This record gives sequence, structure tokens and C-alpha cells, in this order.
Amino acid sequence: MEKLWAGRTSGAASKLADDFNSSIGVDQRMYRQDICGSMAHANMLAACGILPASDAALLVDALGDILEELESGKLTIDPAAEDIHMFIEQVLTDRLGDVGKRLHTARSRNDQVAVDLRMYLRDEAAAVEEKLKALLTAIADQAEANVDTILPGYTHLQRAQPILFAHHLLAYAMMFTRDLGRLSDAVKRMNESPLGACALAGTTYPTDRQMTAKALGFDGPCRNSIDAVSDRDFCVELLSAFALMMMHLSRFSEEIILWASWEFHFIELDDGYTTGSSIMPQKKNPDMAELVRGKTGRVYGDLMGTLTMLKGLPLAYNKDMQEDKEAIFDAVDTVKQCLDIFTPMLATMKVQKENMRHAAQKGFINATDLADYLVKKGMPFRSAYKLTGGLVTECMKNGQVLETVPFARYKELSSLFDSDVYDAIRLETCVEKRTSEGGTGKASVLAQLEWLRALLNDTEK
Ligand code: ARG
Repeated sequence: MEKLWAGRTSGAASKLADDFNSSIGVDQRMYRQDICGSMAHANMLAACGILPASDAALLVDALGDILEELESGKLTIDPAAEDIHMFIEQVLTDRLGDVGKRLHTARSRNDQVAVDLRMYLRDEAAAVEEKLKALLTAIADQAEANVDTILPGYTHLQRAQPILFAHHLLAYAMMFTRDLGRLSDAVKRMNESPLGACALAGTTYPTDRQMTAKALGFDGPCRNSIDAVSDRDFCVELLSAFALMMMHLSRFSEEIILWASWEFHFIELDDGYTTGSSIMPQKKNPDMAELVRGKTGRVYGDLMGTLTMLKGLPLAYNKDMQEDKEAIFDAVDTVKQCLDIFTPMLATMKVQKENMRHAAQKGFINATDLADYLVKKGMPFRSAYKLTGGLVTECMKNGQVLETVPFARYKELSSLFDSDVYDAIRLETCVEKRTSEGGTGKASVLAQLEWLRALLNDTEK
């Protein structure tokens, strides 16, 4: 097939070079955006008197046919075409002759690819936002079912203080709501139209960039034609938001993997989200959670690759930038896949409330509360801390816990102890008394849950 750009060069690149140069395998997924962009461009050319209205009508009709045929499978994408833009223009030209050849007036592939990519990513970001909301709903549901479930909270992966499982889950919800914010933020900045910037400098034709921007749902045209075709910061911003979201998913996955182990046994994953071992009959492996954790690395790689690809490029367009799509598409696909599997895995996960509670009863996680008890009776915190630490050591030697220390022993240690000490160090008390804003007390947890539900309802509207 003769190349549309054959002219200055013969277009006779080697097969090896053609394959190397080609991006159709990657960018064909933007066919719809490319066609919509071309329709808006053709209509604008006619409205501005650059093309006869009859030509624009033919172009728009033929583009509509191509879109329909691609969707129905009647027309297949030629893998030998250089990219999706060239392929569609070629089909148009085959069908309309000279009229097809007029479409590319006052346009370049440089603004064309930038507008296609922004439109594509705008839609994909919205799809990811929906999936994130589904995850947030699953978290809210699990939290609601566990507003009375006590487990040890950890620092350094050592039992620290008792918390409500709902509180722990809602911590992730807060992270994912920020991820949601970052996505819509990235889209806000992305939503300016590069179309009409042409190769880099704009055009001598009397075009109307406001018109195409509006037709394609952008907030307006990019203000500088060189910037419009040069930067891919919108990819980087989206990739950063994805990378952060994956980091959150990965930490959550790591906890699920730990909780599902025999050592913790805090949860049981539904069979649908686990695999068996080919050799060890007793195994139920949390492969899905592990893969989400593992795929986080890919998304970080996509971000790093894109940043690195861009860092040395002079303005304006350089072919290096063709690499942007493979990275961002990989990230989009990975993130969507991970959310699609993670959400039902979380929703179907069974919480072993008894085991959580049991773990909280050991490990002296009410030691802070014992110290606080003495402080409230008048002892300075550091003295109370020391006394409690000594008592913990003593208990460990005697195989006791703070709840089983005889009252006489408490009295020996300090006259400040009263019989109400046992109530003060009950797990329920430890949790209930943490009434500080954002703490693990039930009222605070319910307030967080209500806030989350309201946010999800609001974003539905
Ligand atoms: N396939 C190219 C890309 O993805 C399209 C833009 C090509 N422009 C050019 N002047 N060669 O970046």
C-alpha cells in the first residue's frame, strides 16, 4: 500500500522499519475517538468555508459508515497500516477519492493523536472512577457488617491496640476516596482540546477551534499550539493517580494475604478468588490478591517509563511519544482488571470475627489503657507507663494477661487501683472509650461510614 505521506521520501522503508514504526497494534483501540474527532473537524472545515458543505457531509457520512462497520466487524483493521489515523484516512480515501483526501486540511497527526488520546483517557478515567465507587461500596458494606468486630490494630506488625474492623476497612475507604479525587482532578486538566494546533504552529486557514472543542466535549481549546502537541503530562497525571491507587490496593491485598494465612486466620476468601496447589492438597492460595499486589509493579513501570520517555524531548512532537500509548493503555487495562477482581473478592470475603477477637485478647493490647487508667487517677503518664511495662513482663513470666492479674497484686503495685480496673481494660471499653474524632470508637466509625455513604450517593447524582 502506498503511504499517505509518500512524497518527500519514496515511502519505501524496509519491512523491518515499517514494523518498528507502526503503532496500529496499540492505537487501534482509539478508532471511535479518531472518527469522532474527524467528524468534528470536517464539520468545522465546512462551517468556516474551508471545505464545501457537500464534501463535509460526504466525509461525515462515510466516517459514520466506517464506525458502524468497525463495530459490527464488517470492516477489519489492516495491521499493515501505520497507525489508526492513517488506516481510517486510507479507507476514507479509497471510498471517496479526492473528497477523502481533503479531510486532513488544517490538521496534522500530531494534534489528531493528542485529541484522540485525551478523549480516550477521559472516558477510561470515568470507567475507572465507576469501578472505584463499586469498591468503596463493597468496603462500606463490609464495614457495616463489622461495626462491632474487634481485632488487634498493629504497628510494626506487632499487636498494638484494639480497634474495630470497620475502622480498619474505612481507613482504606479514605485512601480510595482520595484516589477518586485525583482521577477527576487529572481529567479536569486533561479536558482541553489540542485539535487545530496542527503540526505545532497552528494554521493559515481560518479555523474555529472553539467549535471543535465544544463538539468533542472539551472545556475549550489548548491555549498554546506547541504545548498542545508536545506534552503528555495528562498521561503522567493519570498514571500517577493509577500508581497511587494500585499502591493502596496492593497494601490492602497484602493484608488480605496475611489475614487469610493460618497464622492469622482472620478471614476466609471465597473459593472463587483462590486457587489450589498442584501438589499440596491442603492449600488454598490467595492468588488474586497476590496478583493485584504484583501488578502494582507494572503500573509503577508504566509511570516511570512514560516520565523517562518524555524527559529529554525537545518541543514539539517527537516519535518517541508514540510510546505513551502502550504504557497508559497497559495501566488502564491493569487497573480495571485489578478493581474488577478485588471488589467481589472483598465483598465475598468471610470475616472470622471470633478469631479476630481471640487475637485481640492476647498480646497485651490493652496495656495503654491500663496506663491511661492510672493517669486518670492522678499518676503521671511516664510513671504509669513504667509500672504497666513491668507488670506486662511479670505476666509474661507467669503466663498471665492483664485481665487475670489478681486484684491484690494490682493494689500492691499502686493504691490508685480500684476494682473498676478490670472494666477499664476490657476490650470493649478500650474501643468504646476512643471517642476522639476519627478514632476507633463506634460513634466515630459510624460517622465515617455515614460520610462515605453520603459521598457515594452524591457522586451517583
Ligand atoms: N502514531 C503516532 C503516535 O502515536 C501518531 C503521530 C505521528 N505523527 C507524526 N508526525 N509522525 O504518536
